[in-house]
Amino acid sequence: MPGFRIAVIAGDGIGPEVIEPSIRVAEAAALKYDSATLEWNRLPWSSDFYKKTGHIVPPGGWDELQKHDAILFGAIGSPDVPETVTVHGLLLPMRRMFDQYVNVRPAYLYPGVPCPLAGKEPGSIDMLVYRENTEGEYAPVGGRLYPNTPDEVAIHSAVFTRRGCERIIRAAFEAARKRRKKLTSVTKSNALPYGMVLWDEAAKAVALEFPDVEMKSLLVDAAAMDFVRKPESFDVVVASNLFGDILTDLSAAVAGSIGLASSANLNPTRKFPSMFEPVHGSAPDIAGKGIANPLAAVLSTALLLDHLNLTKSANAVRDAVAKVLGAGKVMSPDLGGKSTTDEVADAVRAAV
Ligand code: NAI
Ligand code: MG
Repeated sequence: MPGFRIAVIAGDGIGPEVIEPSIRVAEAAALKYDSATLEWNRLPWSSDFYKKTGHIVPPGGWDELQKHDAILFGAIGSPDVPETVTVHGLLLPMRRMFDQYVNVRPAYLYPGVPCPLAGKEPGSIDMLVYRENTEGEYAPVGGRLYPNTPDEVAIHSAVFTRRGCERIIRAAFEAARKRRKKLTSVTKSNALPYGMVLWDEAAKAVALEFPDVEMKSLLVDAAAMDFVRKPESFDVVVASNLFGDILTDLSAAVAGSIGLASSANLNPTRKFPSMFEPVHGSAPDIAGKGIANPLAAVLSTALLLDHLNLTKSANAVRDAVAKVLGAGKVMSPDLGGKSTTDEVADAVRAAV
């Protein structure tokens, strides 16, 4: 029986609320469809852990984390702890340290899910956003001069490397080749003439390797408009760290809710573990109420199962989510229903 060891960082706010029931769904699917066992190593790294110990990642923590087959992550961030500690102390360094340069974020309009756009059929929105995850605008390169004075200056550099652009664009082309063979590369090279022009040039060069895939370039403002105006026109989208981040909250919203948006942070070389997390954050406004939609986390476990080559289990989780949403009886409040987090996840587990 294949077995895998997965690190779990549930984190803050609704993180633990959505991660625990998702684990139960993934475990049931892996056992039933691939006869696989999953061992979950729960790490308490969170804002509370930081407040108690002074560390968000304890000494030796990164080495320990690396020794897992994959990482399941909830969300990090609390109103009472600076984001420099949480987001910049745990989430962003993990993506860089483990070279998780591919951030895949699917957006799919499931049957039964109310779409904020008029006249969209289930399945008509079906896109995959490939977001660059290790450099670009989120590279911590910059500084502050004359802090706390009227003359204060902040300099923030975006970092675009030929290698960084080419490898994310190539990964996106490979995904498009297996789907509807359409790739949209999103930049802002008219206004940002260095990094984004390098990106455009890399895209043109990589496109030569994929003559069977149709590539189109779009400026990010036009892309934002078309995500709303005609989301069905997108298949695979590839974008920089910042643009991919923003556009995927938008793709999540047009596909019904951020509570359905899953993601994978992949190190395709498998030298380091990959990490799977819902796109949403810790949602302090609804934390502790038991009403968070767990399906973004559940669908993230499906991506995790895909990564472990437990394909039948992964598909079973997605099918079960589609079945529960399609039936329309057990829905969380973000989708217009009244069900709790556990009720939604339990319905999916039963469907599995
Ligand atoms: P957020 O994603 O936590 O919440 C945005 C809105 O969506 C809120 O109204 C929230 O109630 C709603 N929402 C989010 N997830 C939901 C779910 N599963 N079901 C129902 N409604 C849901 O983003 P926000 O409020 O900007 O950030 C809160 C904290 O989370 C901040 O500290 C931020 O830095 C952090 N954050 C962490 C992320 C991560 O760990 N990957 C990603 C995004 C934000
Ligand atoms: Mg985001």
